[in-house]
Amino acid sequence: MKVDTLLGLQWGDEGKGKIVDVLTPNYDIIARFQGGPNAGHTLEFEGQKYVLRSVPSGIFQGGKINIIGNGVVLDPALFKAEIEALEASGHDLTQRLYISRKAHLILPTHRLLDAAYETQKGSGKIGTTGKGIGPAYTDKVSRNGLRVGDIECNFDAKYNEAIARHETILQQMRYEYDLKAIEKEWREGIEYIKRFRLIDSDHFINNALREGKKVLAEGAQGTMLDIDFGSYPFVTSSNTICAGACTGLGVAPSKIGEVYGIFKAYCTRVGSGPFPTELTDETGQKMRDLGQEYGSVTGRPRRCGWIDLVALRYAILIDGVTHLIMMKSDVLDTFDTIKACVAYKVDGKETEDFPFNLNGSVEPAYVELPGWQTDMTKMQAEDEFPEEFNAYLSFLEETLGVKVKIVSVGPDRAQTIIRYQEE
Ligand code: GDP
Ligand code: IMO
Ligand code: MG
Repeated sequence: MKVDTLLGLQWGDEGKGKIVDVLTPNYDIIARFQGGPNAGHTLEFEGQKYVLRSVPSGIFQGGKINIIGNGVVLDPALFKAEIEALEASGHDLTQRLYISRKAHLILPTHRLLDAAYETQKGSGKIGTTGKGIGPAYTDKVSRNGLRVGDIECNFDAKYNEAIARHETILQQMRYEYDLKAIEKEWREGIEYIKRFRLIDSDHFINNALREGKKVLAEGAQGTMLDIDFGSYPFVTSSNTICAGACTGLGVAPSKIGEVYGIFKAYCTRVGSGPFPTELTDETGQKMRDLGQEYGSVTGRPRRCGWIDLVALRYAILIDGVTHLIMMKSDVLDTFDTIKACVAYKVDGKETEDFPFNLNGSVEPAYVELPGWQTDMTKMQAEDEFPEEFNAYLSFLEETLGVKVKIVSVGPDRAQTIIRYQEE
């Protein structure tokens, strides 16, 4: 068997959590492969709403195994709080959530360093989620990180050494902090992790594939936030693209099966950085209001704009997307006309290629399509789609060169229309 992947194609928050939950019945194992508690994946069903941060979104459907893979960075304190909240709502995960020994730990000082670096950048700040993601991955790459498996062996010495190194940096930066205030919770989180099964997820997943088990890899963030291919430096610190599933789980590229690329019918971004199709007018505000575009982790208002097909085409190329999933089309239900960016004007010249640098003078060139002006939120099948909506879908499929397999018309699990099954 192969590993199917589900990846955000924009700047995150496309609706990955909802769709992983919808697809979970088709799989035996759901695995997160990168990112950490910077993610906020929302699921809604039976009148309940959950926001998951480090826990994969496959926990609510029929006792499947969920894995936190080696490419993830894990904050023990936030992990404990997340699991306890799930337990309080009747979901005990201790028997079916496994953690890779090779996943790196976010130390309390990583969070402080994240804040210190952002303060130092001033108006050029990234607008991170403040969860210590960048500093944790920095330590991984500079070979100074602590891994979950270290909890089992000589942990205190490694921890103290890392903390001393971080404190030197914080003091050099003259950043004021109170480590004691956050260290206790963090330590409790480390103890808490011990009740979960720690695995060598690379062996575990490859053995599962050999036994004919089906695996879905759940991406976090989105392709435009990828450390290599996103709008650098306004990105996250991991590979959010399909290749990240290989390095973040230990599966060979030849073991990747379907690649589900998920996008909103428009576009959003949270934090700083370029966003060519951003609307700062009342149309953007209408999208924010109707789409409830406020960060699921930080509560920050999300910047909103029209769909960007130049960026989407690039993401599809880098990820090797085999099927598209379109979310939140209901947010556009009342719009007279809908715009789609089909090219950029860079320094006066029109291009359909995604440029090296999005900063500066990138101006979107739009085509305009008629809106469908129909409430689609109760639709259950494709044959109910209004004509203008079908025209929008066909236009996207033609421009992007990939079929749209799923259309989502509301936040609830039930508001999902699957247009075809793969062979
Ligand atoms: P993720 O990070 O990719 O999992 O996405 P988020 O959960 O951060 O953000 C998506 C938001 O849109 C959540 O509040 C979802 O409940 C909501 N949502 C998902 N699909 C739809 C949809 O089709 N229509 C509407 N209106 N909301 C949706
Ligand atoms: P999900 O998985 C949207 C953004 C931050 C910031 C940049 C770097 O819910 O789609 P970081 O804390 O990772 O160092 O922040 O990336 N960002 C996200 N934006 N959705 C996310 O996750 C994000 N995770 C990080 O806002 O601009
Ligand atoms: Mg999110």
